Amino acid sequence: MKTPQAVPLIRAPRRRGSRDKADPCTMVIFGGAGDLTKRKLIPAIYYLAEQKLLPDNFALLGVARDQNTDDSYRAMMREAMSRSDEIHKVNDDVWQWLCQRTFYAGGDFTRDDAYANIKTRLNEIESKSGEEDRNRLFYLAIPPSVFETTLTHLCASGLARRTHSYEERPWNRIVIEKPFGTSLDSAMALNRLVLDEFGEHQIYRIDHYLGKESVQNILVFRFANSIFEPLWNRHYVSHVQITAAESVGVEGRGKYYEEAGVLRDMFQNHLLQLLTLAAMEPPSSFTADAVRDEKVKVLHSVRPLVQGDCEPAVVRAQYDGGTVDGKSVPAYTSEPDVPANSLTPTFAAMRVDINNWRWKGVPFYLRSGKRMARRISEIAIQFRSPPLLLFGQKAVEEMSPSVLTMRVQPDEGISLRFQVKTPGAMHELTPGLEITPVDMDFTYGEAFGNDAHPAYETLLLDCMIGDPTLFTRSDEVEMAWSIIDPVLDYWGKHPARSLPRYPAGSWGPEEANKLLLGDHTRWR
Ligand code: NDP
Ligand code: BG6
Repeated sequence: MKTPQAVPLIRAPRRRGSRDKADPCTMVIFGGAGDLTKRKLIPAIYYLAEQKLLPDNFALLGVARDQNTDDSYRAMMREAMSRSDEIHKVNDDVWQWLCQRTFYAGGDFTRDDAYANIKTRLNEIESKSGEEDRNRLFYLAIPPSVFETTLTHLCASGLARRTHSYEERPWNRIVIEKPFGTSLDSAMALNRLVLDEFGEHQIYRIDHYLGKESVQNILVFRFANSIFEPLWNRHYVSHVQITAAESVGVEGRGKYYEEAGVLRDMFQNHLLQLLTLAAMEPPSSFTADAVRDEKVKVLHSVRPLVQGDCEPAVVRAQYDGGTVDGKSVPAYTSEPDVPANSLTPTFAAMRVDINNWRWKGVPFYLRSGKRMARRISEIAIQFRSPPLLLFGQKAVEEMSPSVLTMRVQPDEGISLRFQVKTPGAMHELTPGLEITPVDMDFTYGEAFGNDAHPAYETLLLDCMIGDPTLFTRSDEVEMAWSIIDPVLDYWGKHPARSLPRYPAGSWGPEEANKLLLGDHTRWR
């Protein structure tokens, strides 16, 4: 296995508890007319403006290939806001405030003239604010295939410059969307390119799952309570199930998805992030490097799959037509930009073994798929059965194991399932004794109201403040690829003649159930 490159440490300050105001800065979005910008970034920036977390001299420059003026770009973003599922109500005063600070530059990112145009626009915008040396945040909301050329041009044009320390001002930071590369080799090459041009302290590799409140809560739940941590190991846990099921399909992103497939789209990033947070040791402090060091250690301990393991340990499948939420939906191969003979997996389930002191022998089962029965992301820790079953045959047959579930979405919260005696049942030795599983449940909505901050809002603010804790470090991203790469490699060398199919609106293919049979368990 290849070893990740050495990482320079960041020495960023301790993660803040409250929400500080962003530093004065200009934000440049490459891919300023794309799906991510319209659906997630602009709503997140709007919410930051609404909460007065953006400084008065904030400026936003959208860059894309379309022919737009500042006004038509503002109108496009306003239209996107009205369609966004993130926005409940747009306040006109806030929108006007943001509009006055929103600009547009056109250009093809593979060509020098795009960067000359951006430079001209930045000079105009920044000189108006009276500050020529401004902090700049460059956001690459573009397909991974143009990351490299955009980064090279960005540096060569002098728009973004290397800074030598985290403290140096003005700062220049680069946010890079996922997937970071398409394989271990390409991720290593991209890291080399990025780190030749910039310092690690300038790079924010984003994985929006880390911005979700419920994901951040995993560490708080584990390390701010002393009652669960003693049970959080191979002595008490029988296995862990991590699920990220989506009811949506590829939503017009067929071109991207054909290149990615479910492993690159969800496993290499979101699912492995959930795994590291659930499995890591307590960090020595709550700083970016200490947290990320512990996450990387988990990835290092994952037993690498060798060729012969891939078949039994990983299941792939693709959705057929079916019914989701009462509506009939087409098969993956009938989606726009997807060839009729596509063999791209839209579902995968995988067994991961962590060979360290805490987890040796405890399988972690990961699964994710599009067009599944319901949208649900969760981590379920299933505990071992008691050593002696005391309650008669009937009760024993009915007993289900205790499970602690951290619900990432929807209905964010935590529940603990355990057994109780069903009221009215008789003496424990009689065949009539009954046992029922019950749930103790905490939901964020009930406890705090439904005002959780959307993930992109949290993460954008962190970039503007300079807190990299919730972003992925170069070695982390490479270690994650080193877990996924053998499977992609195996699939590449053993192309399937056909894939197992599952009807849209189901919980995936039958084959996924077989994965768990060896452990005498089943998917939740
Ligand atoms: P889109 O294809 O919708 O948007 C990409 C944008 O980049 C488009 O505006 C496109 O312009 C522009 N672009 C591409 N190539 C060039 C070029 N050479 N010169 C100028 N502009 C160019 O993709 P998404 O917004 O969906 O995704 C962007 C990134 O965000 C990807 O890395 C994706 O993985 C990531 N992401 C997306 C999520 C989502 O929900 N959409 C969620 C999480 C991550 P044009 O239209 O002219 O091609
Ligand atoms: C993105 C993937 O990273 O995450 C999408 O590219 C997926 O395919 C999305 O739909 C899921 O995010 P969320 O926040 O809706 O769970």
